[in-house]
Amino acid sequence: MSLLEWKEEFSVGVTEFDGQHKVLIDLINKLHDAMRAGVGRQALSDILSELVEYTKTHFENEEKLFLQYSYPESPAHRREHDALTKQVLEFQKEYHDGRTSISIDVMDFLKDWLVNHIAISDKKYTHFFNEKGIR
Ligand code: FEO
Repeated sequence: MSLLEWKEEFSVGVTEFDGQHKVLIDLINKLHDAMRAGVGRQALSDILSELVEYTKTHFENEEKLFLQYSYPESPAHRREHDALTKQVLEFQKEYHDGRTSISIDVMDFLKDWLVNHIAISDKKYTHFFNEKGIR
């Protein structure tokens, strides 16, 4: 069973970003499934890298649109992106150095963070961008 399922209530009303959030959910599920299947460290490391890189790309895409349209909530939103990026990069480093493992606690952290960020912070831009004709 997947750790996390996409739900319509996660929609942020911008097709491009809904698509990217679905990819992030798929990657979190992929990491979770691989952890449960007991695959090797290198395979987990590869999926973790994919998740980190895609997260960074997604955040950059949102931030580009914020800048382009002078989205007023951008500073607070960017701080959330920066905080998560810092946390996952630190975790990735610890994992590479063999100082930690991918556990259910880590998976729960990623899942909860993503769901809360999408459901609260990302959803704040729906009205703003829809009004500009972006859907
Ligand atoms: Fe969809 Fe702000 O991350």
